Amino acid sequence: MSRIDKLMAQMTLEEKLGQLTMTASSYAVTGPIIAGDSTDSIADGTLGNLLNMVGTGPTHEMQRLAVDKSRLGIPLLIGLDVIHGHRTLFPIPLAEMALFDPRAWELTAREAATEAAADGLAMTFNPMLDVSRDPRWGRTAEGPGEDPWLGARLAEAKVRGFQTADLARPDALAACAKHFCAYGPVMAGREYASVDISERTLHEVHLPPFEAAVAAGVASIMPAFTDLNGIPMTAHTELLGDYLRGKLGFEGVLISDYNAIGELIRHGVAADLVEAAALALNAGVDIDMMADAYRKGLPIALERGLVSMAQIDTSVRRVLRLKEQLGLFDDPYLRGSAAEAPEVVAQRRTLAREVGARAIVMLKNDGDTLPLAPGIGKLCVIGPLTDNGPEMGGCWGAAGEPDKHVSVLSGLRQGFPGTEIVHAAGTAIRDDDASGITAAVALCDGADAILLCIGEAHNMSGEAASRAYPELPGQQRALTEAVLARAQSLGIPVIAILFSGRPLVIPWLAEKADALLAAWFLGSEAGNAIADVLSGKVSPSGRTPMSWPRALGQVPIFFGQRPSGRPMNPDDFFTSKYLDVANDPLYCFGHGLSYGRFAYADLRVTPDRVSPADAIHVQVTITNSGARAAQDTVFLFTRDPVASVARPLLELRGFGKIDLAPGESGVVALSLLASDLKFLGRNLAPVFEAGDVEILVGPCADRAQLLSAVIKLR
Ligand code: BGC
Repeated sequence: MSRIDKLMAQMTLEEKLGQLTMTASSYAVTGPIIAGDSTDSIADGTLGNLLNMVGTGPTHEMQRLAVDKSRLGIPLLIGLDVIHGHRTLFPIPLAEMALFDPRAWELTAREAATEAAADGLAMTFNPMLDVSRDPRWGRTAEGPGEDPWLGARLAEAKVRGFQTADLARPDALAACAKHFCAYGPVMAGREYASVDISERTLHEVHLPPFEAAVAAGVASIMPAFTDLNGIPMTAHTELLGDYLRGKLGFEGVLISDYNAIGELIRHGVAADLVEAAALALNAGVDIDMMADAYRKGLPIALERGLVSMAQIDTSVRRVLRLKEQLGLFDDPYLRGSAAEAPEVVAQRRTLAREVGARAIVMLKNDGDTLPLAPGIGKLCVIGPLTDNGPEMGGCWGAAGEPDKHVSVLSGLRQGFPGTEIVHAAGTAIRDDDASGITAAVALCDGADAILLCIGEAHNMSGEAASRAYPELPGQQRALTEAVLARAQSLGIPVIAILFSGRPLVIPWLAEKADALLAAWFLGSEAGNAIADVLSGKVSPSGRTPMSWPRALGQVPIFFGQRPSGRPMNPDDFFTSKYLDVANDPLYCFGHGLSYGRFAYADLRVTPDRVSPADAIHVQVTITNSGARAAQDTVFLFTRDPVASVARPLLELRGFGKIDLAPGESGVVALSLLASDLKFLGRNLAPVFEAGDVEILVGPCADRAQLLSAVIKLR
């Protein structure tokens, strides 16, 4: 008899439901009892999982209660949102996407997992895989950006990075792909709002990252808070059961989002907690996070015949199997048994600095304003994000230590030791006090360059942080315009460093600043990373993973749109356009400048006739005609011009990178499988249709900048 069979044979209903319950630890351990929990529940075996606890001391103390005091000694599963780092913070996920580098995505996950496991944790609620095309939605910051193919690559990298090939390793965490699914297209970008999208968009855009996560062996999946076309995801039998469990063969743990089972009542699909619990269990949700619906509701649901004991047992087995895979039965104290060496922590910060610098997207650099001259005499740094380490962390602070984040000011002081640096906040991030603007503007006189550190606060993106005006908050536009006007009259260049968890709508700034950097939120080493780019120590190489709108009215805006029967034509009134703004984004997907200057030539695609089993090889020659060494990212798109279902104008299929010295040329080789050109036909079944397909290669999703060749599928 296996360990799990033996346990199952002994467990009472209460103990089983304890394994299906996860409670936030601050409540379980100390404060007022929520969800009926205290440490007593752990000791009596009626609470099997915790979230939001950190540190070897507390995690091992709770583990001891479960293992030594509870009747069956089943260890706890303890999880936390380790999203972009644990104590050492890396760039927020959207920023990290700008690297277009799966190895780096994997590495930061590996480091975060190692650090979190050393703190006693065994699970993270990550990766977040919600494709987002609407910057109003604050959770855009946590996810892969606008492209599903890219989201799938992120999923694979993060699952590998967190879990490794062996979940039982002392430095491995169980990953949790979330939020399944289609949370990104919440109505009007408003958090937790309803989602109403087509079946095709669901399958083409929102499911692929989750399919990739399942294929990569993700241990758990979290249904989204939202409903999809009227059915809350927490109760979505078709998608959780038939699709995820059935079609994809997912055998891991489904864990509800925070109180999501309880919220089925307010969604309007359950009359009470009993019905809510039954709906979630019937859909296959194994663990109830924070609603306490399973312990309170399932006993009654059983009596009423709404659920069966066999269903409960199936879920309990899944949870026990995960604990077993994590090695928790063999050694519940394995994670957190040894403190990390200071060198290991220091190396992690070096990685945070490198990844931070690579996540910066240089949106504009007129007249080679950047990099700053090494011996620059005087820098004037203005804005509420100048001398502000704690804000650098980003939306998921996890166990980060905000007082240890490097501010822009201290990064500059380190990076430009001989330079005189004057600075002022000028205004706060979000309040209406404009009284400091005049004094800040007066600091500009005599400066060789002006840096503006402006943008959102770290908690203006992430969960529950939708914005109807995704622009500079508070008085920052007034501050910026005053500085720009003064700088212009003095002939001083202005570099705007923009902090945000989303693309902001800032066409006026893009027009007037000499240089513009999207610095997102870069984590613990933000200031150093920024100084590295400003000084030219690092040539910027980040590419935006989302389109930047010119106007909010363009949202949702993304490169993978379908063609119109009346494509925009300035000479024809009755075409697809706005009367008051261009159709294209201010900065398209993939845009990002470097200190080099790249030109593309000689696109070769072989073979030019392909069958479904063939690989397609693509080569392009790139020359750096700039004065500095730099890295370029090359994108590979396809376009199927005639198909039984209209295909998007561009579909991302790959990317590659090349480092080139000044004057140097090199070849980037990319490939794709002809079978990848399958798409979902009219009945949503995959089809491979013969005909022409365009292969497009270039620096971003702006069609005008792409080289193209046509191949024939047969
Ligand atoms: C969020 C999840 C998160 C969970 C646990 C919820 O509010 O939606 O993304 O994993 O809380 O902290």
